[in-house]
Amino acid sequence: MRENLIEKAKKVLLGNKKKGFTLPTNNKLYPAQWKWDSGFIALGYSHFNLKYALDEITTLLKGQWKDGMIPHILFHDLNTNYYPNHSVWNCGNKIHSSGITQPPVLAIILKKILDKNKIKVNEKTKIKLIIKKLKKYHEWLIKYRDPRNTGLVSILHPWESGYDNSPLWDYSMNEIKVEKNLKYKRGDNKVINPEYRPLDEDYDRYITIKNHLRKNKYNPKKLYNESMFNVVDVGFNSIFLKANKDLIELLKSFNLEHNNLQKFILKSENQIEKLFDTRKGVFVNYDIKNRKKIIVPSITNYFILFADLKNQLINKKIIKNLKNHNQNEKYLFSSIKPNYGKFEEKRYWRGPVWINCNWIIYQGLKNKDKKFANKIKENTITLIKKNGFYEYYSFKTGEAFGANNFSWTASLFLDLIFDKNRTN
Ligand code: DGY
Repeated sequence: MRENLIEKAKKVLLGNKKKGFTLPTNNKLYPAQWKWDSGFIALGYSHFNLKYALDEITTLLKGQWKDGMIPHILFHDLNTNYYPNHSVWNCGNKIHSSGITQPPVLAIILKKILDKNKIKVNEKTKIKLIIKKLKKYHEWLIKYRDPRNTGLVSILHPWESGYDNSPLWDYSMNEIKVEKNLKYKRGDNKVINPEYRPLDEDYDRYITIKNHLRKNKYNPKKLYNESMFNVVDVGFNSIFLKANKDLIELLKSFNLEHNNLQKFILKSENQIEKLFDTRKGVFVNYDIKNRKKIIVPSITNYFILFADLKNQLINKKIIKNLKNHNQNEKYLFSSIKPNYGKFEEKRYWRGPVWINCNWIIYQGLKNKDKKFANKIKENTITLIKKNGFYEYYSFKTGEAFGANNFSWTASLFLDLIFDKNRTN
């Protein structure tokens, strides 16, 4: 049974594979290369084809901008129904791309791949180049997304978080005035039941922000202050903290300089702790644009476990909270706590279970609460086994939503199955 599923997972990835990169799914929902999808996809390939894993990352880095930014989408195929497409983004370096980024998972993934696989001598130069490019990207985030040197980086569009329509952004999105006479045609809700997708009022704002970024020529020097959306997100910063720690290890192994990153990590660890509300025992996001604290029970706030904070008191408190996040133990974790007023069981990032979130939390718990971590792993495997390789699932019933044959679900399934810490 398990063998069968392993083969099926590989088939999902190979079925979505194009030349040098892999689509997030085989339907028409996402006809391009997405940044954090690509990271997870590379990890999946590393369990059966190291070349494909490294190719995935190498192709993504071909689209890196001259200043270091890695875009959230690379449009390899220009002839699709996706909106916003390459011509309305109107930017890119060598490859048409979007003008924003996505969670910085690549260094974490690369370290995982290199920890597990022996790299041949002739591949070392290629890997060194990847590491140098990742360093340039991390430096870009620090320079342009934290120009005030606070130790925390901002995202300038909800799409940069990856959890596009999370209630985390409701307040900040409501503050945005939609551009007049906005004309565009969504492609996503023609392919997937609109009940599972973001609303038109969300898209109006996504496009308004995007148009404003384009008007400013995606100039990172200007945009920290000028963007219509500027939020410090705990999830994104937790991933960045972990990625910086892993990147330093990678840099060390190639005798490359890492002092600046080390300094940033120290500052970041101090500052992120300040986002912890000790009274409520939760992490708080901060809207820089509107100077407003955002308290929403999002699973992404628990990504902090992945960053391995040294503060054991905080770790203990949030693990306790995490155990109360769900009402249904079988389908860990809903993206938003189910008793929250704006929770929606089926709508994209407003409630469904996402496999990458379960995976990130599993990774973060492995060295803190092994029993709980293993339960998450087993339940995630069972969820996929019963309901297939989908984009997201109901926390109540396990029912699958969104795209089928979803690449990161297949990849992370493989990673969980092959995890050495397995209990059975
Ligand atoms: C989409 O198209 O829904 C993506 O999440 C945006 O990056």
